[in-house]
Amino acid sequence: MTPEIVELGRSIRARDPARPSWFEVIFSYPGLHAVLWHRLAHRLWGWGLRGLARFTSHLGRMLTGIEIHPGARIGRRLFIDHGMGVVIGETATIGNDVTIYHGVTLGGLSLKPGKRHPDVADGAILGAGAQVLGPITVGEGARVGANSVVVNNVLPLTTVVGIPARCVGEGCLETPTVGYGLPAGEADPLGERMAAIEAELRALRAQLEQQRKAG
Ligand SMILES: CC(C)(COP(=O)(O)OP(=O)(O)OC[C@H]1O[C@@H](n2cnc3c(N)ncnc32)[C@H](O)[C@@H]1OP(=O)(O)O)[C@@H](O)C(=O)NCCC(=O)NCCS
Repeated sequence: MTPEIVELGRSIRARDPARPSWFEVIFSYPGLHAVLWHRLAHRLWGWGLRGLARFTSHLGRMLTGIEIHPGARIGRRLFIDHGMGVVIGETATIGNDVTIYHGVTLGGLSLKPGKRHPDVADGAILGAGAQVLGPITVGEGARVGANSVVVNNVLPLTTVVGIPARCVGEGCLETPTVGYGLPAGEADPLGERMAAIEAELRALRAQLEQQRKAG
């Protein structure tokens, strides 16, 4: 089996248009280092050594500027490009071959413990500064525009942009499926929905204010 560092290095070299050398990838790509730190932290977390797991993830954060909670589940060949300011929450899951740029948050909206962070499916791309909030799903191969705020599910192979994020281009549906990917049981759907509505309201107010100032 290929060691993960080689697999990560290969996928970064293939996906980064700067076409870095092996030396560059291994020694100067914080995204690669962050994934490896996370593997260790996640293993410690699984063994119940939570304090040590948090400390390991903290060391990774100090060295890379990328904060991944040790509980998060991350698939193969995640490419975190640039990386600084990325935050990935405890109950987030990330599939294979996902690309994440700097400043992305996979965050929660509810203060209630349990599933509260997004699921990002295989091959999705999250643009720089995108804020993906709540227990929503970003579908397979979907693209999230830079600086978007996403509080609803994103359908596979679609592109969403803006605040709140809206679907643009091919594949958009009039009424996206609500609730897809939500786990049964410990989630707080009403609380999450209320928080999502509040976030949308705040974003709309901010937009109105911007438009008012622009005259
Ligand atoms: C979202 C994205 C993938 C869309 O690319 P695309 O499919 O080529 O889409 P287009 O450029 O044709 O844009 C489609 C519409 O969305 C708008 N749009 C695109 N990106 C946007 C963004 N980030 N925020 C707001 N609106 C955006 C365009 O203005 C256009 O609007 P219009 O139809 O009213 O003219 C791309 O714009 C993006 O944001 N990529 C992330 C790149 C990134 O983070 N790079 C960091 C490198 S360091």
